[in-house]
Amino acid sequence: MSTVSMTKPDYGIDAPKVLRNFFVFGTLALVLALVLPKTLHLGPVALKTHPTFGWIAGCCLVEGFLYLLYVKVGKFGHRDFILGMHRWRGDEQVLDVGCGRGLLLAGAAKKLATGHATGIDIWSNEDMGGNSEAATLHNLELEDVVSRCTLVSQGAQAMPFADASFDVVVSNLCLHNLYDRPTRKKALLEIVRVLKPGGVAAISDYKLTGEYAEAFAKAGLNVERKWGSILTTFPPLLVVIARKPE
Ligand SMILES: C[S@@+](CC[C@H](N)C(=O)[O-])C[C@H]1O[C@@H](n2cnc3c(N)ncnc32)[C@H](O)[C@@H]1O
Repeated sequence: MSTVSMTKPDYGIDAPKVLRNFFVFGTLALVLALVLPKTLHLGPVALKTHPTFGWIAGCCLVEGFLYLLYVKVGKFGHRDFILGMHRWRGDEQVLDVGCGRGLLLAGAAKKLATGHATGIDIWSNEDMGGNSEAATLHNLELEDVVSRCTLVSQGAQAMPFADASFDVVVSNLCLHNLYDRPTRKKALLEIVRVLKPGGVAAISDYKLTGEYAEAFAKAGLNVERKWGSILTTFPPLLVVIARKPE
């Protein structure tokens, strides 16, 4: 079924193959724990199969369920946590870097009266299930914010925006997908460049946040970090909040 035809916004499954692998390997390990003899003799090594595969199964399946909980429930609370880093006036220009299917973009647009929200993405289906500009546009229509939003199909490392264009830049689980450090640095410096003096960037990720904080601090921004809820974000997500001096 095409997600574009759905009538409720669908913000998709982040990195769907990761979720699939938790359940595939968890189930496989569970089956091995149940069917293999209690001890396997592998040359000189005697492997206690039940506890070994039982633990692997338990870890994979628990992680899979926690990940599913984030995807289906936790991401909405985390969106509100990120957007809560700024006191909204309603006239802001907002940029969502790696907007995916529009989770933060639509959330930010709902806080605007005269402002505008822009989402930039390359629509990777590895990083987000059912990712496309059309799917995101459909979500924005369903959220009734399409007139306040623009979508831009481009990489975060080369943004087509003028210097000092945005009051608020947000991003969730995007920048770690830029696999090499120089490209990530370009994206981080692009965020600094497009942020207005006095503006704030709130960049959330599950890893590399130290690198983001360091790049922002080196660029002269005032940086702090805040953990999202450890109950409903999995993997645990840290938000780097960087304010550009006036
Ligand atoms: C895990 S998804 C998160 C989407 C959204 N921020 C959310 O929280 O629902 C990561 C997103 O980053 C996007 N992305 C990956 N590399 C990118 C790049 N170089 N520039 C812009 N977006 C990118 C992917 O296409 C995907 O939509």
